[in-house]
Amino acid sequence: MKVAVIGGGGREHTLAWKLAQSPSVEKVYAIPGSAAMAEIASCVDIPLSDLQGIADYAAKEGIDMLVVGPEVPLTEGLTDVCQAKGLAVFGPTKAAAQIEGSKIFAKNLMHKYNVPTAAYASFTDGDAAKQYVHQQGAPIVIKADGLAAGKGVVVAQSEAEAVEAIDAMMEDHIFGASGGRIVVEECMIGEEASLLAFVDGTHIVPMISAQDHKRIFDHDKGPNTGGMGAYAPAPVLTATLQQEVFDTILEPVVSGMAAEGMPYQGCLYAGLMITGGGPKVVEFNCRFGDPETQAVLPLLEGDLAQIMYACTQGTLRDDMVQWKDASACCVVMASKGYPASSHKGDVITGLDKVDTDAVVFHSGTASKDGAYVTDGGRVLGVTAVAPTLEEAIAKSYANIDKIHFDGQQIRHDIGAKGLRHYQQQ
Ligand code: AMP
Ligand code: GLY
Repeated sequence: MKVAVIGGGGREHTLAWKLAQSPSVEKVYAIPGSAAMAEIASCVDIPLSDLQGIADYAAKEGIDMLVVGPEVPLTEGLTDVCQAKGLAVFGPTKAAAQIEGSKIFAKNLMHKYNVPTAAYASFTDGDAAKQYVHQQGAPIVIKADGLAAGKGVVVAQSEAEAVEAIDAMMEDHIFGASGGRIVVEECMIGEEASLLAFVDGTHIVPMISAQDHKRIFDHDKGPNTGGMGAYAPAPVLTATLQQEVFDTILEPVVSGMAAEGMPYQGCLYAGLMITGGGPKVVEFNCRFGDPETQAVLPLLEGDLAQIMYACTQGTLRDDMVQWKDASACCVVMASKGYPASSHKGDVITGLDKVDTDAVVFHSGTASKDGAYVTDGGRVLGVTAVAPTLEEAIAKSYANIDKIHFDGQQIRHDIGAKGLRHYQQQ
Protein backbone atom coordinates (compact mmCIF):
# COMPACT_ATOMS: atom_id res chain seq x y z
CA MET A 1 0.00 0.00 0.00
CA LYS A 2 1.06 3.59 -0.62
CA VAL A 3 -0.04 5.68 2.35
CA ALA A 4 0.00 9.47 2.79
CA VAL A 5 0.01 11.08 6.23
CA ILE A 6 -1.52 14.55 6.21
CA GLY A 7 0.13 17.02 8.62
CA GLY A 8 3.61 17.70 9.93
CA GLY A 9 3.64 17.67 13.74
CA GLY A 10 4.62 15.16 16.41
CA ARG A 11 1.41 13.16 16.03
CA GLU A 12 1.97 12.86 12.29
CA HIS A 13 5.63 11.92 12.77
CA THR A 14 4.44 9.10 15.02
CA LEU A 15 1.76 8.00 12.55
CA ALA A 16 4.31 7.94 9.71
CA TRP A 17 6.85 6.07 11.89
CA LYS A 18 4.31 3.39 12.79
CA LEU A 19 2.89 3.12 9.27
CA ALA A 20 6.41 2.72 7.88
CA GLN A 21 6.69 -0.42 10.07
CA SER A 22 3.49 -1.94 8.65
CA PRO A 23 4.24 -5.04 6.55
CA SER A 24 1.51 -3.95 4.12
CA VAL A 25 3.05 -0.51 3.46
CA GLU A 26 5.35 -0.09 0.50
CA LYS A 27 5.79 3.69 0.68
CA VAL A 28 4.86 6.49 3.09
CA TYR A 29 4.22 10.04 1.89
CA ALA A 30 3.75 13.07 4.12
CA ILE A 31 1.82 16.18 3.09
CA PRO A 32 3.40 18.57 3.92
CA GLY A 33 5.47 16.58 6.46
CA SER A 34 8.56 18.00 8.13
CA ALA A 35 12.34 17.73 7.99
CA ALA A 36 12.24 14.87 10.49
CA MET A 37 9.43 13.08 8.65
CA ALA A 38 11.53 13.29 5.47
CA GLU A 39 13.82 10.67 7.07
CA ILE A 40 11.03 8.09 6.82
CA ALA A 41 8.60 9.49 4.24
CA SER A 42 8.48 11.36 0.92
CA CYS A 43 7.37 14.87 1.81
CA VAL A 44 5.18 16.76 -0.62
CA ASP A 45 4.77 20.47 -0.12
CA ILE A 46 1.04 21.08 -0.52
CA PRO A 47 -0.59 23.37 2.06
CA LEU A 48 -3.20 21.75 4.33
CA SER A 49 -5.73 24.35 3.19
CA ASP A 50 -5.51 23.11 -0.42
CA LEU A 51 -7.99 20.23 -0.08
CA GLN A 52 -8.42 19.76 -3.82
CA GLY A 53 -4.66 19.92 -4.39
CA ILE A 54 -4.12 17.13 -1.86
CA ALA A 55 -6.85 14.98 -3.42
CA ASP A 56 -5.53 15.57 -6.96
CA TYR A 57 -1.99 14.68 -5.94
CA ALA A 58 -3.09 11.51 -4.12
CA ALA A 59 -5.15 10.36 -7.10
CA LYS A 60 -2.35 11.08 -9.60
CA GLU A 61 0.24 9.31 -7.43
CA GLY A 62 -1.96 6.23 -6.91
CA ILE A 63 -2.04 6.60 -3.13
CA ASP A 64 -4.12 3.84 -1.56
CA MET A 65 -4.97 5.57 1.70
CA LEU A 66 -4.69 9.03 3.25
CA VAL A 67 -4.37 9.29 7.02
CA VAL A 68 -5.36 12.74 8.25
CA GLY A 69 -3.63 14.00 11.39
CA PRO A 70 -5.01 17.45 12.31
CA GLU A 71 -8.61 18.49 12.91
CA VAL A 72 -8.73 21.57 10.67
CA PRO A 73 -8.61 19.80 7.27
CA LEU A 74 -11.12 17.22 8.59
CA THR A 75 -13.61 19.88 9.68
CA GLU A 76 -13.09 21.60 6.32
CA GLY A 77 -14.02 18.43 4.45
CA LEU A 78 -10.73 16.90 3.21
CA THR A 79 -12.22 13.42 3.55
CA ASP A 80 -15.24 14.35 1.43
CA VAL A 81 -13.10 15.95 -1.29
CA CYS A 82 -10.83 12.88 -1.44
CA GLN A 83 -13.70 10.39 -1.32
CA ALA A 84 -15.27 12.18 -4.28
CA LYS A 85 -12.17 11.11 -6.23
CA GLY A 86 -12.54 7.51 -5.07
CA LEU A 87 -9.72 7.71 -2.52
CA ALA A 88 -9.71 5.88 0.81
CA VAL A 89 -9.28 8.28 3.73
CA PHE A 90 -8.81 7.41 7.41
CA GLY A 91 -10.66 10.26 9.12
CA PRO A 92 -14.27 11.44 9.37
CA THR A 93 -16.26 13.40 6.82
CA LYS A 94 -16.97 17.08 7.34
CA ALA A 95 -20.37 16.24 8.82
CA ALA A 96 -18.97 13.69 11.27
CA ALA A 97 -15.99 15.91 12.20
CA GLN A 98 -18.49 18.34 13.74
CA ILE A 99 -18.11 16.22 16.85
CA GLU A 100 -14.93 18.24 17.41
CA GLY A 101 -15.65 21.25 15.19
CA SER A 102 -18.74 22.35 17.10
CA LYS A 103 -19.02 21.90 20.85
CA ILE A 104 -22.76 22.62 20.60
CA PHE A 105 -23.14 19.81 18.04
CA ALA A 106 -21.25 17.44 20.36
CA LYS A 107 -23.25 18.44 23.43
CA ASN A 108 -26.58 18.13 21.62
CA LEU A 109 -25.59 14.70 20.27
CA MET A 110 -24.61 13.53 23.77
CA HIS A 111 -27.84 14.91 25.19
CA LYS A 112 -29.94 13.15 22.54
CA TYR A 113 -28.21 9.78 23.04
CA ASN A 114 -27.94 9.99 26.83
CA VAL A 115 -24.16 10.11 26.97
CA PRO A 116 -22.79 11.23 30.36
CA THR A 117 -21.26 14.71 30.18
CA ALA A 118 -21.37 18.01 32.09
CA ALA A 119 -24.78 19.75 32.27
CA TYR A 120 -24.78 22.65 29.83
CA ALA A 121 -26.60 25.40 28.00
CA SER A 122 -25.61 27.04 24.71
CA PHE A 123 -25.89 30.73 23.87
CA THR A 124 -25.60 33.18 21.01
CA ASP A 125 -26.42 36.11 23.32
CA GLY A 126 -23.84 37.28 25.87
CA ASP A 127 -26.35 38.71 28.36
CA ALA A 128 -28.32 35.47 28.47
CA ALA A 129 -25.06 33.54 29.01
CA LYS A 130 -24.09 35.84 31.89
CA GLN A 131 -27.52 35.47 33.47
CA TYR A 132 -27.12 31.68 33.33
CA VAL A 133 -23.67 31.99 34.96
CA HIS A 134 -25.19 34.00 37.83
CA GLN A 135 -27.94 31.39 38.26
CA GLN A 136 -25.49 28.49 38.30
CA GLY A 137 -22.62 30.07 40.27
CA ALA A 138 -18.91 29.25 40.06
CA PRO A 139 -16.79 27.29 39.32
CA ILE A 140 -18.21 27.08 35.81
CA VAL A 141 -16.78 26.36 32.37
CA ILE A 142 -17.06 28.63 29.30
CA LYS A 143 -16.32 27.14 25.87
CA ALA A 144 -16.19 28.71 22.42
CA ASP A 145 -18.32 26.61 20.06
CA GLY A 146 -15.80 26.30 17.23
CA LEU A 147 -12.16 25.29 16.91
CA ALA A 148 -9.77 27.48 18.87
CA ALA A 149 -6.50 25.51 18.75
CA GLY A 150 -7.21 24.02 22.18
CA LYS A 151 -7.49 27.46 23.77
CA GLY A 152 -11.24 28.03 23.65
CA VAL A 153 -12.01 26.73 27.16
CA VAL A 154 -11.99 28.73 30.38
CA VAL A 155 -12.54 26.93 33.68
CA ALA A 156 -13.73 29.97 35.64
CA GLN A 157 -13.24 29.90 39.40
CA SER A 158 -15.50 32.92 39.95
CA GLU A 159 -18.57 34.42 38.26
CA ALA A 160 -16.47 37.51 37.42
CA GLU A 161 -13.93 35.34 35.59
CA ALA A 162 -16.76 33.63 33.69
CA VAL A 163 -18.24 36.99 32.66
CA GLU A 164 -14.81 38.14 31.50
CA ALA A 165 -14.44 34.99 29.38
CA ILE A 166 -17.89 35.49 27.82
CA ASP A 167 -17.00 39.08 26.93
CA ALA A 168 -13.64 38.04 25.48
CA MET A 169 -15.31 35.41 23.26
CA MET A 170 -18.53 37.20 22.32
CA GLU A 171 -17.66 40.93 22.42
CA ASP A 172 -13.91 41.00 21.74
CA HIS A 173 -14.05 37.97 19.39
CA ILE A 174 -10.68 36.61 20.55
CA PHE A 175 -11.45 33.36 18.75
CA GLY A 176 -13.14 35.02 15.76
CA ALA A 177 -16.31 33.30 14.57
CA SER A 178 -15.56 30.28 16.83
CA GLY A 179 -16.73 32.31 19.84
CA GLY A 180 -19.93 33.67 18.29
CA ARG A 181 -21.74 30.79 19.97
CA ILE A 182 -20.66 29.46 23.33
CA VAL A 183 -21.37 26.59 25.70
CA VAL A 184 -21.58 27.22 29.43
CA GLU A 185 -21.20 24.01 31.37
CA GLU A 186 -20.94 22.48 34.79
CA CYS A 187 -17.42 22.16 36.16
CA MET A 188 -16.67 18.47 36.62
CA ILE A 189 -14.29 17.29 39.31
CA GLY A 190 -12.05 14.26 38.85
CA GLU A 191 -9.00 12.93 37.06
CA GLU A 192 -8.80 13.18 33.27
CA ALA A 193 -7.95 10.39 30.84
CA SER A 194 -8.10 9.91 27.08
CA LEU A 195 -9.54 6.90 25.33
CA LEU A 196 -9.01 6.80 21.58
CA ALA A 197 -10.77 4.28 19.38
CA PHE A 198 -10.58 2.97 15.83
CA VAL A 199 -14.05 3.25 14.29
CA ASP A 200 -15.26 1.99 10.90
CA GLY A 201 -18.70 3.61 10.87
CA THR A 202 -20.32 1.00 13.10
CA HIS A 203 -17.64 -1.14 14.72
CA ILE A 204 -15.45 0.32 17.50
CA VAL A 205 -12.10 -1.00 18.73
CA PRO A 206 -10.73 1.06 21.63
CA MET A 207 -7.02 1.71 21.87
CA ILE A 208 -4.99 1.49 25.04
CA SER A 209 -5.91 4.32 27.45
CA ALA A 210 -3.65 7.34 27.94
CA GLN A 211 -3.28 10.46 30.03
CA ASP A 212 -2.15 13.86 28.79
CA HIS A 213 -0.57 16.63 30.90
CA LYS A 214 -2.09 19.88 29.69
CA ARG A 215 -0.54 22.49 32.00
CA ILE A 216 2.95 23.83 31.37
CA PHE A 217 4.35 23.39 34.89
CA ASP A 218 4.77 20.44 37.25
CA HIS A 219 1.79 19.45 39.43
CA ASP A 220 -0.65 20.75 36.79
CA LYS A 221 0.19 24.40 37.42
CA GLY A 222 0.32 27.29 34.93
CA PRO A 223 -1.46 27.87 31.65
CA ASN A 224 -2.82 25.16 29.36
CA THR A 225 -0.66 23.91 26.51
CA GLY A 226 -1.19 21.52 23.62
CA GLY A 227 0.09 18.78 25.98
CA MET A 228 3.46 18.45 27.75
CA GLY A 229 3.61 14.67 27.86
CA ALA A 230 1.55 11.51 27.99
CA TYR A 231 1.74 7.94 29.15
CA ALA A 232 -0.15 4.78 28.35
CA PRO A 233 -1.94 2.83 29.62
CA ALA A 234 -3.56 5.11 32.24
CA PRO A 235 -4.43 2.96 35.29
CA VAL A 236 -7.10 5.47 36.39
CA LEU A 237 -9.17 3.89 33.64
CA THR A 238 -9.55 0.39 35.08
CA ALA A 239 -10.91 -2.43 32.93
CA THR A 240 -14.33 -1.94 34.52
CA LEU A 241 -14.32 1.79 33.80
CA GLN A 242 -13.15 1.17 30.24
CA GLN A 243 -16.09 -1.13 29.68
CA GLU A 244 -18.35 1.57 31.10
CA VAL A 245 -16.85 4.13 28.69
CA PHE A 246 -17.45 1.73 25.81
CA ASP A 247 -21.06 1.02 26.79
CA THR A 248 -22.18 4.49 27.89
CA ILE A 249 -20.07 6.74 25.65
CA LEU A 250 -18.40 5.21 22.57
CA GLU A 251 -21.18 2.86 21.53
CA PRO A 252 -24.10 5.31 21.84
CA VAL A 253 -22.16 8.07 20.10
CA VAL A 254 -21.08 5.90 17.16
CA SER A 255 -24.51 4.34 16.70
CA GLY A 256 -26.10 7.78 17.21
CA MET A 257 -23.98 9.32 14.48
CA ALA A 258 -24.88 6.49 12.12
CA ALA A 259 -28.55 7.06 12.95
CA GLU A 260 -28.11 10.78 12.21
CA GLY A 261 -26.85 9.92 8.72
CA MET A 262 -23.24 10.88 9.43
CA PRO A 263 -21.46 7.63 10.31
CA TYR A 264 -18.15 8.14 12.10
CA GLN A 265 -15.03 6.64 10.55
CA GLY A 266 -11.49 7.26 11.76
CA CYS A 267 -10.02 7.81 15.21
CA LEU A 268 -12.55 8.95 17.78
CA TYR A 269 -10.88 10.59 20.76
CA ALA A 270 -12.90 10.71 23.97
CA GLY A 271 -11.51 13.17 26.52
CA LEU A 272 -12.90 11.93 29.83
CA MET A 273 -13.28 13.10 33.41
CA ILE A 274 -13.42 10.20 35.87
CA THR A 275 -15.88 11.74 38.33
CA GLY A 276 -17.37 10.29 41.52
CA GLY A 277 -20.42 9.53 39.37
CA GLY A 278 -18.42 7.61 36.73
CA PRO A 279 -16.67 8.63 33.51
CA LYS A 280 -18.09 11.69 31.74
CA VAL A 281 -17.12 13.31 28.46
CA VAL A 282 -15.04 16.51 28.58
CA GLU A 283 -14.71 16.69 24.80
CA PHE A 284 -14.52 14.64 21.66
CA ASN A 285 -11.79 15.05 19.07
CA CYS A 286 -12.13 13.78 15.52
CA ARG A 287 -8.50 12.64 15.29
CA PHE A 288 -5.58 11.21 17.22
CA GLY A 289 -4.43 13.14 20.30
CA ASP A 290 -1.11 14.90 20.48
CA PRO A 291 0.92 13.80 22.51
CA GLU A 292 -1.23 10.74 23.35
CA THR A 293 -0.36 9.24 19.96
CA GLN A 294 3.35 9.33 20.83
CA ALA A 295 2.62 7.10 23.86
CA VAL A 296 -0.16 4.91 22.42
CA LEU A 297 1.10 3.86 18.98
CA PRO A 298 4.48 2.50 20.15
CA LEU A 299 2.44 -0.03 22.17
CA LEU A 300 0.38 -1.20 19.19
CA GLU A 301 1.01 -4.66 17.84
CA GLY A 302 -0.44 -5.49 14.49
CA ASP A 303 -0.43 -3.71 11.20
CA LEU A 304 -1.59 -0.09 11.62
CA ALA A 305 -2.13 0.42 7.90
CA GLN A 306 -4.35 -2.65 7.71
CA ILE A 307 -6.36 -1.54 10.75
CA MET A 308 -6.87 1.92 9.26
CA TYR A 309 -7.71 0.58 5.83
CA ALA A 310 -10.29 -1.72 7.41
CA CYS A 311 -11.85 1.36 9.05
CA THR A 312 -12.19 3.04 5.66
CA GLN A 313 -13.87 -0.09 4.24
CA GLY A 314 -16.19 -0.86 7.16
CA THR A 315 -14.40 -4.14 7.87
CA LEU A 316 -12.65 -3.48 11.20
CA ARG A 317 -12.37 -6.50 13.51
CA ASP A 318 -11.30 -6.75 17.16
CA ASP A 319 -8.58 -9.30 16.43
CA MET A 320 -6.70 -6.86 14.19
CA VAL A 321 -5.73 -4.73 17.18
CA GLN A 322 -3.41 -5.96 19.93
CA TRP A 323 -1.34 -4.16 22.53
CA LYS A 324 2.04 -4.85 24.06
CA ASP A 325 1.93 -5.76 27.72
CA ALA A 326 4.08 -2.75 28.59
CA SER A 327 3.92 0.97 29.35
CA ALA A 328 5.02 3.97 27.31
CA CYS A 329 5.95 7.45 28.45
CA CYS A 330 6.38 10.48 26.19
CA VAL A 331 7.92 13.65 27.63
CA VAL A 332 7.58 16.79 25.53
CA MET A 333 10.41 19.32 25.24
CA ALA A 334 9.05 22.80 24.51
CA SER A 335 10.83 25.96 23.40
CA LYS A 336 11.39 29.18 25.30
CA GLY A 337 8.22 31.22 25.87
CA TYR A 338 5.76 28.36 25.28
CA PRO A 339 2.74 28.37 25.53
CA ALA A 340 2.37 32.18 25.22
CA SER A 341 4.91 32.23 22.37
CA SER A 342 7.64 30.02 20.95
CA HIS A 343 11.26 30.39 19.94
CA LYS A 344 12.66 29.33 16.61
CA GLY A 345 16.20 28.57 15.53
CA ASP A 346 17.74 27.20 18.76
CA VAL A 347 20.13 24.40 17.83
CA ILE A 348 19.21 20.98 19.24
CA THR A 349 22.14 18.81 20.31
CA GLY A 350 22.41 15.23 21.52
CA LEU A 351 19.80 13.60 19.27
CA ASP A 352 22.51 11.18 18.10
CA LYS A 353 23.11 10.06 21.70
CA VAL A 354 19.56 8.82 22.30
CA ASP A 355 19.37 5.09 23.11
CA THR A 356 18.18 2.82 20.36
CA ASP A 357 15.22 1.71 22.47
CA ALA A 358 13.86 5.24 22.85
CA VAL A 359 12.34 7.23 20.03
CA VAL A 360 12.23 10.97 19.46
CA PHE A 361 9.21 12.35 17.64
CA HIS A 362 9.59 15.85 16.20
CA SER A 363 6.72 18.28 16.80
CA GLY A 364 8.32 21.55 15.81
CA THR A 365 11.81 21.32 14.36
CA ALA A 366 13.48 22.45 11.15
CA SER A 367 16.73 21.41 9.58
CA LYS A 368 19.43 24.08 9.31
CA ASP A 369 23.04 23.58 8.21
CA GLY A 370 22.81 19.85 8.84
CA ALA A 371 21.36 20.18 12.37
CA TYR A 372 17.86 20.28 13.79
CA VAL A 373 16.73 23.60 15.28
CA THR A 374 13.59 24.53 17.22
CA ASP A 375 10.72 25.63 15.00
CA GLY A 376 7.64 25.78 17.20
CA GLY A 377 6.24 25.71 20.72
CA ARG A 378 6.35 21.99 21.27
CA VAL A 379 9.64 20.81 19.80
CA LEU A 380 10.22 17.12 20.58
CA GLY A 381 8.47 14.21 22.26
CA VAL A 382 10.80 11.60 23.73
CA THR A 383 9.09 8.23 24.11
CA ALA A 384 10.32 5.12 25.87
CA VAL A 385 8.56 1.77 26.22
CA ALA A 386 9.31 -0.56 29.14
CA PRO A 387 7.68 -3.40 31.07
CA THR A 388 6.49 -0.99 33.79
CA LEU A 389 5.45 2.66 33.81
CA GLU A 390 8.17 3.41 36.33
CA GLU A 391 10.86 2.12 33.97
CA ALA A 392 9.32 3.85 30.96
CA ILE A 393 9.37 7.18 32.81
CA ALA A 394 12.98 6.69 33.94
CA LYS A 395 14.11 5.78 30.42
CA SER A 396 12.32 8.71 28.86
CA TYR A 397 13.93 11.20 31.26
CA ALA A 398 17.36 9.53 30.93
CA ASN A 399 17.18 10.24 27.19
CA ILE A 400 15.85 13.77 27.69
CA ASP A 401 19.04 14.42 29.69
CA LYS A 402 21.07 13.75 26.56
CA ILE A 403 19.22 16.32 24.45
CA HIS A 404 19.68 20.05 24.78
CA PHE A 405 18.55 23.35 23.29
CA ASP A 406 18.55 26.83 24.77
CA GLY A 407 15.40 27.74 26.65
CA GLN A 408 14.12 24.15 26.72
CA GLN A 409 11.14 23.49 28.98
CA ILE A 410 9.98 20.11 30.25
CA ARG A 411 7.70 18.86 32.99
CA HIS A 412 9.39 16.61 35.52
CA ASP A 413 6.29 14.73 36.65
CA ILE A 414 4.97 13.05 33.49
CA GLY A 415 3.35 9.78 34.57
CA ALA A 416 3.47 10.57 38.30
CA LYS A 417 -0.32 10.29 38.64
CA GLY A 418 -0.20 6.88 36.98
CA LEU A 419 2.49 5.68 39.40
CA ARG A 420 0.32 6.70 42.32
CA HIS A 421 -2.51 4.52 41.00
CA TYR A 422 -0.22 1.52 40.63
CA GLN A 423 1.08 2.07 44.17
CA GLN A 424 -2.48 2.08 45.52
CA GLN A 425 -3.41 -1.16 43.76
P1 AMP B 1 -11.06 20.90 26.08
O1 AMP B 1 -10.37 21.82 25.11
O2 AMP B 1 -12.52 20.78 25.89
O3 AMP B 1 -10.32 19.60 26.25
O4 AMP B 1 -10.85 21.56 27.51
C1 AMP B 1 -9.57 21.87 27.98
C2 AMP B 1 -9.46 21.47 29.41
O5 AMP B 1 -10.40 22.21 30.19
C3 AMP B 1 -9.81 20.03 29.68
O6 AMP B 1 -8.75 19.16 29.46
C4 AMP B 1 -10.21 20.08 31.14
O7 AMP B 1 -9.05 20.09 31.95
C5 AMP B 1 -10.88 21.41 31.26
N1 AMP B 1 -12.35 21.26 31.15
C6 AMP B 1 -13.09 21.32 30.03
N2 AMP B 1 -14.40 21.13 30.31
C7 AMP B 1 -14.47 20.94 31.63
C8 AMP B 1 -15.54 20.71 32.56
N3 AMP B 1 -16.83 20.68 32.17
N4 AMP B 1 -15.24 20.58 33.87
C9 AMP B 1 -13.97 20.65 34.31
N5 AMP B 1 -12.92 20.87 33.49
C10 AMP B 1 -13.16 21.02 32.17
N1 GLY C 1 -3.82 16.02 23.76
C1 GLY C 1 -5.00 16.73 23.54
C2 GLY C 1 -5.41 16.82 22.15
O1 GLY C 1 -4.82 16.23 21.27
O2 GLY C 1 -6.40 17.50 21.88
